[in-house]
Amino acid sequence: MKEIKIGLIGFGTIGTGVAKLLQANAGLIADKVGAAVTLKKIADLDITTDRGIELPPGTLTSNVAEVLDDPEISVVIELIGGYEPAKSFVLRAINNGKHVVTANKALLALHGEEIYPAAAAKGVEVLFEAAVGGGIPVISAILGNMAANNFTTVFGILNGTCNYILTRMTQEGADFADVLKTAQELGYAEADPTFDIEGVDTAHKLALLVSLCFGTKVDFNAIHTEGISSISSVDIGFARDFGYKIKLLAIGKRTGDTVEARVHPTMIPVNYPLADVDGVFNAIRFTGDFIGPVMFYGRGAGMEPTASAVVGDVIEIARNILAGVGRRCAPLGYRDEAVTTLAL
Ligand code: HSE
Repeated sequence: MKEIKIGLIGFGTIGTGVAKLLQANAGLIADKVGAAVTLKKIADLDITTDRGIELPPGTLTSNVAEVLDDPEISVVIELIGGYEPAKSFVLRAINNGKHVVTANKALLALHGEEIYPAAAAKGVEVLFEAAVGGGIPVISAILGNMAANNFTTVFGILNGTCNYILTRMTQEGADFADVLKTAQELGYAEADPTFDIEGVDTAHKLALLVSLCFGTKVDFNAIHTEGISSISSVDIGFARDFGYKIKLLAIGKRTGDTVEARVHPTMIPVNYPLADVDGVFNAIRFTGDFIGPVMFYGRGAGMEPTASAVVGDVIEIARNILAGVGRRCAPLGYRDEAVTTLAL
């Protein structure tokens, strides 16, 4: 049987999930790809912590070059998050002719304009389904089966950590700091959880959705961004009294050549579907000119769902390698005249 060798950078919560999934479903994945997909190397600064998974000897390394510069490795999975050194690693993988799978919304929201053309110039793919909505296949849907549509709106709940915190505050009167700690322990929160609670992670994801849906470049710094750190139990109680739940929403709208993008806590009427999206779940609603309204719902963070999205991208690339094609190239087709504006 043919073999496609991949390398992983970052052996944290999601990296561990990816390694476990590739092991647990190796036979199924090989059948679907038509080749064995083998995790040849995992690079991480910490190669001693027990992640509860048996790996073949020699898989773990603290030398990232053993992933990035290995000519046998054709796909690099980047799961360290953040801007640097993730950006340098991704660009080095691309320059070495490797396809890249990443969950790094921060990197793509701010540096996609550098990364996508570099990948196009080298004829490699950069796929990032796990960057938005955890295991929910929204990026594949935008670029794939919904691609025939002009979109006018995209909005929803994009951060599992915030939704988990707000849900437990609403349902149990739980303390903000205690629930945040639990969200970190469950592997939902970013390495720097201020990105979650201040709305920055949601804004990163919104920037990706807006650019893909509306075909426009987005000035990330122009996105109005408010998080949930100032939401108190008093706010939640008043909202409940008036028939609302508080959710952190990301909202993108396109009107002609103007695009609006904002992130802020929002009062949702309790009889509206988004009000029932609780815990770590995310929901994303699109409106396209032919498909009409369509809504996606599922686990927005955590080891297993995010690993599912990452490995789905690996499978797509592996199939394309075998077929000798690169099926999708995310960022093409921008309209230069479109602008991002603030709106409240
Ligand atoms: N910290 C993110 C969240 C992880 O809570 O949604 C998934 O992107």
